[in-house]
Amino acid sequence: MSHMTEQERRDEVAHFMKIVTAFRQYEAYAISANTRRRRDFYRLPKEDKEILDSLGWRKQLDMVDELIHENAKVLERIVANPAIFMDQEELALAENNNHDVRDSHGMDHMHSHGDGAHSHSHSSHSHSHGSHETSRRQQVSATDMDKVRSTLKQIVRDWSEEGKAERDVTYKPMIDALLEHFPDQGTWPEKKVLIPGAGLARLGWELAFLGFETQCNEFSHFMLLPSYFILNETKDVNQHTIYPHIHTFSNAMSAKSMMRGISFPDVSPSSLPRSSRFSMVAGDFEELFGPKEDPEEDETEQWDAVLTCFFIDTAKNIVNYLRIIHRILTPGGIWINCGPLLWHFENSEDISIELSLEEVKELAAKIGFELKDQRTIDTSYVGDEGSMLSYVYKTAFWTATKFAK
Ligand SMILES: C[S@@+](CC[C@H](N)C(=O)[O-])C[C@H]1O[C@@H](n2cnc3c(N)ncnc32)[C@H](O)[C@@H]1O
Repeated sequence: MSHMTEQERRDEVAHFMKIVTAFRQYEAYAISANTRRRRDFYRLPKEDKEILDSLGWRKQLDMVDELIHENAKVLERIVANPAIFMDQEELALAENNNHDVRDSHGMDHMHSHGDGAHSHSHSSHSHSHGSHETSRRQQVSATDMDKVRSTLKQIVRDWSEEGKAERDVTYKPMIDALLEHFPDQGTWPEKKVLIPGAGLARLGWELAFLGFETQCNEFSHFMLLPSYFILNETKDVNQHTIYPHIHTFSNAMSAKSMMRGISFPDVSPSSLPRSSRFSMVAGDFEELFGPKEDPEEDETEQWDAVLTCFFIDTAKNIVNYLRIIHRILTPGGIWINCGPLLWHFENSEDISIELSLEEVKELAAKIGFELKDQRTIDTSYVGDEGSMLSYVYKTAFWTATKFAK
C-alpha cells in the first residue's frame, strides 16, 4: 500500500468506484430482469395469461419488484458512505468520470473466477490486468452485478439465523480445533489469530468474542463494504431484511420460499466484550503477509494461529500461500484449514497452479507442516434451503503445526 504510484492510486479509486456503482445500480439491473418476465407474460395468449394469473403469477412479479426495492435500500446503505474507504476528493473525481453507466445491456465482459457462490474480486492491487477495466468509463459488468447478488447470499451465510447450520458445519470444527490447541482460556487474549480471505468476518468475530486477538484479512470491496456496515453501523439484532433468492426463479420449491426474507444480523455485532481486540486489514494476503524488507512490517512468526476457510484455492501460486502461512506462524502455532480446491484462477490469464488435494498435502509437508486431524467435511457454501438444487463440497479439513527444528 505504501509504495503506490499516482497511476496505481487512481486505478484503485476507479476500481473502488466501480464496485460502489455496482451496488447502486443493483435495483435497475434486477428490475430490468424482472421486467423481462412481465413482458414475456404479456406476449402469451389470453387463455394462458388467465391460467397463470389464477396461479398468482403476475402478483408474484409485482411482489418481486417490491422485494428488489427492499434489497436496494439495504445495498444503498452499505455504500452510503464510501469515504470511509477512500479519500473524499479522489472519490468525487472518480464519480465525475462515471456518468454514462446506465445501459443494462452494455455490460463489459471481464473474465470471472469461480462461480458466483464462491467468487471473489480482484484486490485493489491486482486489478490492472484488464486494460478495458480501467481505461473506460465505468460500467457495471455482469460479473460485478453477480458479485453484488452473491454479497446478499454471503450475508445469509455469515450473519443470519438461517446461515447457522452452514456455519456450524465449517466454522465450528475450526473453532473447536483452535480451542483444543490452546486449552488454557487465560492465554487466549495473548494469542493472535489471523483469518485470510475472511469474507464477511463472522469467523473472526466469533474468535474475538471468545477473547482471541483476531485479525481478518480481505481484499474485495464486495466484502469489505458490507462487513464494515455490519460490524460498525449495525446495532440491533435482525435490524435489516434482505431477499437474496429472488434473482433466479429456477429450482424454487415455492414462490413463498423464493421470496422469503432473511433478517440480519442474528447477533448484535457490537456485543463484543470491551476488552476484545478485533481488526480487519484490507489488501492482498501475499502482499500484506509476505516477507518485507522493513523488519517493522515483517510478519514472520507473528501469528499463533492462521485459519483458512474456503481460502487456499484463491491462490495463483499455492506454494507461496503455504510458505507465507508457514513463515508467519509462531513455532508453537497452528494452521487450521477447511475448504475445497476450486482454483479461482484456473480459467484466467493469470498464473494458476491447480494441485490436487493429495498434492496440496504433500506440498504442505515439504514446506514444513505436519498435518493432523485430517478429515472430509461435507458442506454447502451459501446454500439455499428453498432450492431444488444444492451443491455439496467435500471440503478438506486439517490442522497443521510446524515441524520442530
Ligand atoms: C470463498 S470466499 C470465503 C470467505 C470466508 N472465508 C467464508 O468462509 O465465508 C474467499 C474470500 O477470499 C478473499 N480473497 C481471495 N484472494 C485473496 C487475497 N489474495 N487476499 C485477501 N483476500 C482474498 C475473497 O475476496 C473472498 O472473500
